Amino acid sequence: MVKTAKLIVNGNTYELPLVVGTEGDTAIDISRLRSETGLITLDPGYANTGSCESSITFMDGEKGILRYRGIPIEQLAEHSSFRETAYLLINGRLPSEEELNAFSVRLNDHSLVHEDMHDFFEHFPPRAHPMGILASMVNALRAFYPEIPERSEEEEINLTFSRLLSKLRTMAAMSYRISMGHKIVYPRHDLSYCANFLNMMFDSPVRPYLIDDDIVQALNVFWILHADHEQNCSTAAVRLVGSARVNLYAAISAGIAALWGPLHGGANQAVVEMLLEIADSGGDPAPFIRRAKDKNDPFRLMGFGHRIYKTYDPRARIMEKECNKTLNKLQKHDPLLDIAKKLEEVALKDPYFIDHNLYPNVDFYSGIFLRAIGIPVNMFTVMFAIGRLPGWISQWKESVDDPHWRLHRPRQVYTGLKETDYIPIEKRK
Ligand code: ACO
Repeated sequence: MVKTAKLIVNGNTYELPLVVGTEGDTAIDISRLRSETGLITLDPGYANTGSCESSITFMDGEKGILRYRGIPIEQLAEHSSFRETAYLLINGRLPSEEELNAFSVRLNDHSLVHEDMHDFFEHFPPRAHPMGILASMVNALRAFYPEIPERSEEEEINLTFSRLLSKLRTMAAMSYRISMGHKIVYPRHDLSYCANFLNMMFDSPVRPYLIDDDIVQALNVFWILHADHEQNCSTAAVRLVGSARVNLYAAISAGIAALWGPLHGGANQAVVEMLLEIADSGGDPAPFIRRAKDKNDPFRLMGFGHRIYKTYDPRARIMEKECNKTLNKLQKHDPLLDIAKKLEEVALKDPYFIDHNLYPNVDFYSGIFLRAIGIPVNMFTVMFAIGRLPGWISQWKESVDDPHWRLHRPRQVYTGLKETDYIPIEKRK
């Protein structure tokens, strides 16, 4: 096997080492390219750039494979819980029973949010988007939970992980309650991670929330599917901001901001809005498919396409199954599911979608699931953020432990004016 690549520029030959991953994926190591050749690479959107070596998540976009720490997503969705998957991602292995129990106790201990933070929540304008609120509140956590110099670095980091995992869920439910004008519901020590969230969202003095194990399990699956996805936009944001050695709360807040975008996590909200638009226009997806193919129309089929997957997103298959199961369990019928299935069927036969390798991604069915369990549309991306948090934490942890760690600082090819003299204002035309 060749261990180097050759680069020939202006008659000079340079040897660049190859780095081979455990699954055979191979990269050309260009870390010394500029110092040896004076050249840089140009890769808008970083579609061909590996920013790190990582042992957390493996994806094969051609075959539709996703594994966390080597374990296929299908097995985790079937057998694991979100809490256990979070442990797996962060610690690199499945926990023993004792370790999992200790992890639960820790999450439980940190589930309350500082009472003074309630004031912050209450003063956001009523129409503020929950993702904006969440990003601000996570950043504010550092002010409420400052670093204590007496604590060791390891203790501080583990404490921060537990706080984030537990409090993000509490804060998400709090922001929903406050937006509804309802009193917040505190976390309960006797409930599991997912059941606690549902209870904090929906329990009411006039209609106590009845915890249904099947819905709790479906939420576990939803969050497991979202728990990590290697170097996606929000994770890359966490690593990049984290590379400046800001505190973890600030880095996670940057991840939340990136996730908010409709091309990334915001797509689950955008899918449901698109399906509602199709329903309002009579239920025929054909005009929307025509628009998505029209180069002069910026419209895209939301929930379709992925930078890495050039086949069906394995998470979308599981999500579709969970959607059907949940609607059956709740004895609900959602016309949006019928429209989504029709849209998928038509799109997958269309040469444009076939030629562009555009298949449903995880967001295509996740919004219908969230609607079924009562999550309001503007909270969809918040649900994604809670799910992605263990991934952000584990990727951040891996980056700070990486011996090759450096401040992330991409370069550019400058295309502006050559040196130009300053013109005093009175002489400008
Ligand atoms: N509908 C119609 N055409 C599409 C779509 C779509 N959803 N997605 C990509 N294309 C087309 C583009 O128009 C482009 O066509 P062209 O080559 O003929 O000009 C081609 O496919 C490649 O598109 P890019 O934007 O370069 O592909 P990229 O890898 O950058 O985009 C992305 C990936 C952003 C996810 C894109 O497919 C998209 O916008 N999808 C809709 C939004 C969405 O569902 N996002 C969620 C992604 S999953 C996640 O983040 C959890």
